[in-house]
Amino acid sequence: MNVLGIETSCDETAAAVVRDGVEVLSSIVSSQHDIHTKFGGVVPELASRAHCENMLPVVDGALRAASLTPDAIDAIAVGHRPGLIGSLLVGVAAAKALAWSLGKPLIGVDHVHAHLYAGLLSDAKHAAASDADVFPAVGLVVSGGHTSIYGLSSWLDPKRLGATIDDALGEAYDKVATILGLPYPGGPNLDRLAQTPGADERVADLPISRLSPTSLDFSFSGLKTAMLYEVRGVPDHPAHHRPESRYVPPPPLTDERRRDLAATFQRAATKTITLKLERALSQMRDAGTKPVSLLTGGGVTANSRLRRELEGFAAASDLRLFLPELKYCVDNAAMIAGLAYHHYLAGRVSDLSLEPVPTTAC
Ligand code: KG4
Ligand code: ZN
Repeated sequence: MNVLGIETSCDETAAAVVRDGVEVLSSIVSSQHDIHTKFGGVVPELASRAHCENMLPVVDGALRAASLTPDAIDAIAVGHRPGLIGSLLVGVAAAKALAWSLGKPLIGVDHVHAHLYAGLLSDAKHAAASDADVFPAVGLVVSGGHTSIYGLSSWLDPKRLGATIDDALGEAYDKVATILGLPYPGGPNLDRLAQTPGADERVADLPISRLSPTSLDFSFSGLKTAMLYEVRGVPDHPAHHRPESRYVPPPPLTDERRRDLAATFQRAATKTITLKLERALSQMRDAGTKPVSLLTGGGVTANSRLRRELEGFAAASDLRLFLPELKYCVDNAAMIAGLAYHHYLAGRVSDLSLEPVPTTAC
């Protein structure tokens, strides 16, 4: 079964064809980075307009790359939640128009749930992982907009167990990269710098947020502020003007210190993730669920250190790890088409009343 997927939730216009939920026949992603970079963030109205312009060439490109004509497509899938409402509208309208005009089923899926599916995609023809290989599963999505842990017993109803109460991990990476004076795109550049041989990953004492002893939520704002203080200091604090103050301003931000701070931040950020995964796993086990896999996705799963930590955690916890290939970590439409296949098999098909929704289902 060939599913054409469409993804427009933020600033990437993407289309892909996936066969039987696993084999990616084509995946085209048209990035709008050049449009938004000069504003320092995504401008929603510009994103919607760019999606309108890019949609047809991207869908056409995906069909051509898969060497398929539209009648060889069996269903049209679209990420219809969550995201920027104007951006989602363009994708949903395009998917409805294609489904109606081709007479094919329409399937709406949740973008964040689709990130959990990305580790099952493959460019080569290979057997799909059976449900017994995957479920029950612990899920982790770490992206620019989301940082959440899930418990899954099937592809249909991931249950969110915890989420960030402030910044998403990718957002924290991008903001800290700006504090360190690194160029756009922040997350990947910080990752690269942190990997410099000789970097000291303990140059500062940064907070690893635990929240309450059982919480599966995340918080990255304290870590981000601690990094700001490591770079700029807090010279204006009234307490530092008292004679007894022992305030020592931070050392200058040399290349060496920038490198060390990047490595130190990366260590704290990734430790926070594995700490919460350990908690989630032990809480699930205590509740009588025995997860067999760890499903991961989102832009920050491209991070070199997080990938290593996740491999170590999964091996030590006896979980089969589904870690996406780098190109499927960030937003793409193959993950939408792949997840939609399972919705289709379960009879979860949408109709033309499908609406874009800016918030996630759970
Ligand atoms: O999944 P994604 O493309 O978009 C959302 O759905 O949010 O994730 C983008 C985020 C950005 O914040 C980017 O800085 C981060 O993923 N990112 C990384 C790396 N590659 C992308 N963060 C840390 N290390 C990386 N290697
Ligand atoms: Zn995403």
